[in-house]
Amino acid sequence: MTATAHELDAEAERLLTSLMHVECDARRQWNLATCREIAPLTLEINRLKREQGAIVLAHSYVEPEIIYGVADAKGDSYFLSLQAKQARAKKIVFAGVVFMAETAKILCPDATVVVPDRGSGCSLADSITGEQLRRLKGLYPDAVVVCYINSTAAVKAESDVCVTSGNVYDIIARLPQRRILFVPDRLMAENIRTELKRRGVDKEIISSDGTCMVHEEFTPAQIAEARARFPGLKVVVHPECTAEVAAAADFVGSTGAMMKYVRATTAPYFLMLTECGLVGRLEVESPEKHFVGGCRLCPYMKLNSLEKIRDVLVAPRPDQIVTLDEALRQRAARCIDRMFELAPSD
Ligand code: 13P
Ligand code: SF4
Repeated sequence: MTATAHELDAEAERLLTSLMHVECDARRQWNLATCREIAPLTLEINRLKREQGAIVLAHSYVEPEIIYGVADAKGDSYFLSLQAKQARAKKIVFAGVVFMAETAKILCPDATVVVPDRGSGCSLADSITGEQLRRLKGLYPDAVVVCYINSTAAVKAESDVCVTSGNVYDIIARLPQRRILFVPDRLMAENIRTELKRRGVDKEIISSDGTCMVHEEFTPAQIAEARARFPGLKVVVHPECTAEVAAAADFVGSTGAMMKYVRATTAPYFLMLTECGLVGRLEVESPEKHFVGGCRLCPYMKLNSLEKIRDVLVAPRPDQIVTLDEALRQRAARCIDRMFELAPSD
């Protein structure tokens, strides 16, 4: 079914209202002509969604035309997990990375969960297997195992409680055990140690050796240089950054918390040390704020595209459908349910 000229015009106008604010993406300028180019695709995807009882969940790091063109929910890992848990859809297209889609399948097992690109991994999730974690647990039998949500279903199945960047400090502080085996982010583990010390909470944090290939690249020198150039600058960073970067920042938090901080803060400029997709969202949703360069691209998140979302709705290949062994899924669900019990309610 092809769209009428009137429907295409209206869709291009709808897209333009959001996308014209996105300036951080040097690869593409958003204007009426570029919105007209993608309007047939967004119309087709939104029609396919209605016909199939499908929804699109999109992480804030994916391309803005996905977020503002076809996403039914957009946000950070915690928010998207909640959306998956509450979803009544027959099909979930997860525009993000594979561990997020696996989490959606764990929480919403009756839905068909598909990914636009099976190659959308994550350097953290790919840094440790379930088998490696089992061996590590053998070395620390008295530790409670806390996994960051950026981990595979097999790692979650071996863990006691899952956390996200938005609730990691509160949940670990609430655990009765002193000794924590935290996987897979070594840099976040350092930030946990610092924050718990600041809160006066006594915990021993043992970690595995993963890092985020995007956030580990930011440096304190980059912050110092930006502060010198832009007086009054506020520096906002993700806890996957190094401890030195976190120490030099004005705010450290999940992508959802970073957005909230920017909305609530008056400053002439902001430096966002995270993936560039988040800056795109802020340019759309807080157009009165000014962002200076610094963000980086996650090559995995950028594998998502409107074309691949359309194709996976029309005819998913077997590798695009997320399947999990049922016993493993149930074990992995336990640690995520524990997160929902322990997470702060705000
Ligand atoms: P958030 O949950 O803060 O969105 O983080 C996800 C992620 O992959 C950050 O690199
Ligand atoms: Fe993984 Fe880093 Fe990409 Fe987030 S930004 S998905 S942690 S590689």
